[in-house]
Amino acid sequence: MKLNILFTPDQADDLFFAGKTSVVIDVLRASNTIITAIANGAKELIPVSTVDTAVKISRNLFGGSTILGGERNTKRIEGFNLGNSPYEYSEDKVKSKSIVFYTTNGSKAVLKGKFSEYLYICGFINMAAVVSQLGKSSSDIEIICSGNAGGFSMEDVVCAGMLAGELAKIRMDLDYSDSAKAAVMLHKTAGKDILKMLMESEHGKVLKANGFEEDLLYCSKLNTTDVIPYLSGNVIKLLSGE
Ligand code: MLT
Repeated sequence: MKLNILFTPDQADDLFFAGKTSVVIDVLRASNTIITAIANGAKELIPVSTVDTAVKISRNLFGGSTILGGERNTKRIEGFNLGNSPYEYSEDKVKSKSIVFYTTNGSKAVLKGKFSEYLYICGFINMAAVVSQLGKSSSDIEIICSGNAGGFSMEDVVCAGMLAGELAKIRMDLDYSDSAKAAVMLHKTAGKDILKMLMESEHGKVLKANGFEEDLLYCSKLNTTDVIPYLSGNVIKLLSGE
């Protein structure tokens, strides 16, 4: 079983993912926002790659059960109901809602992997659940780090390295690519103190400067939920256990 890690989504074309099991990671913060929304009963999230598409789609979906969520430059977009802080996606706001979701990198990374046979969303908060799910995978695994504006993000690669390392504990048949080996090594050093690593990361500093320090703490926690969001057609839903 091959396991590869893409440090940015731009490393591959959409069709590269056909027939593969993919995992999208955007630790700061789209992964955690999606996981939290689904954990709090959102019906689905519809990832989009532009704000215009978000607005157009939401107009065509019916009324009160559809809301708009996401960010531009870390902040809620004008006219949107919610931003991209996991704290905003509480049960009272999202239960049974369809959420049209745009973020700078995360929603686009999900769309990049849309042709995958299976696509799951992972953060530190649902790590063990995703590891266990990948333990059952029979197709090659591609971990897509969302990165930032086409560049490398430390927090995504450390999380990917942890996922690859934990999976190797339950699967003897993993064949790591060079990037997977590098990410596993990075996790062993930079992953020793996840909160510190997030605080010192480029995007972590931007989030702190914009008043989102609490989000870093939230995103640093390990295994606080067993919820796995997955892409079904064009929408992200709750993967229910078999
Ligand atoms: C993204 O998708 O780029 C991030 O989730 C941005 C953010 O932290 O809001």
